[in-house]
Amino acid sequence: MDRKSPNRTLKAVALSTCVISGFATASLAEDVVKTRQASMDQIRMGAATLVPMIKGDAEFDAQVADLALRMTYAGAMAFEGKFPEGSTSRGANPAIWENKADFDAKVLDFIADAEAAVALKPMDLEALKAAYQPLLKDCAACHKAYRIKN
Ligand code: HEC
Repeated sequence: MDRKSPNRTLKAVALSTCVISGFATASLAEDVVKTRQASMDQIRMGAATLVPMIKGDAEFDAQVADLALRMTYAGAMAFEGKFPEGSTSRGANPAIWENKADFDAKVLDFIADAEAAVALKPMDLEALKAAYQPLLKDCAACHKAYRIKN
């Protein structure tokens, strides 16, 4: 097995995590919209690593999967509480503020599912599917109700 390539992937993912989290922290005070969008971008990067593995387009790698799940969990936690009244954006459906309790519950479910996925520590593809598929359902359900895709 070529031992170099998974390590390179891991480094690239780890580096991107630092860059994105740094950006999220810097904009926290100034711009809640940018922060939540950066959190979602971090979550998207997790998906960009995990979905090809699940589809069989990328080789399963337990270490990389673990890192991608942790990134997703961190992104989900950073996303929470970033929708104060009036913080509208092109991507956020105004329905969020009309159904705030339901939206907040969906965010908390997503965090709980991400935490559970990390705790599962999937060591093979079947375990990764079981861990990640609930999260993919969460993306779809929340986006359908609350995201405007531009
Ligand atoms: C609880 C609700 C919720 C869940 C769960 C959720 N999202 Fe989102 N997502 C949103 C909302 C709301 C926006 C729009 C935010 C804005 O533009 O202000 C968004 C925006 C995005 C964006 C665009 C970010 C940008 O730069 O503008 C991406 C990419 C994204 N989500 C990916 C995902 C993926 C992948 C998942 C699942 C692994 C996921 N989301 C789960 C609510 C959710």
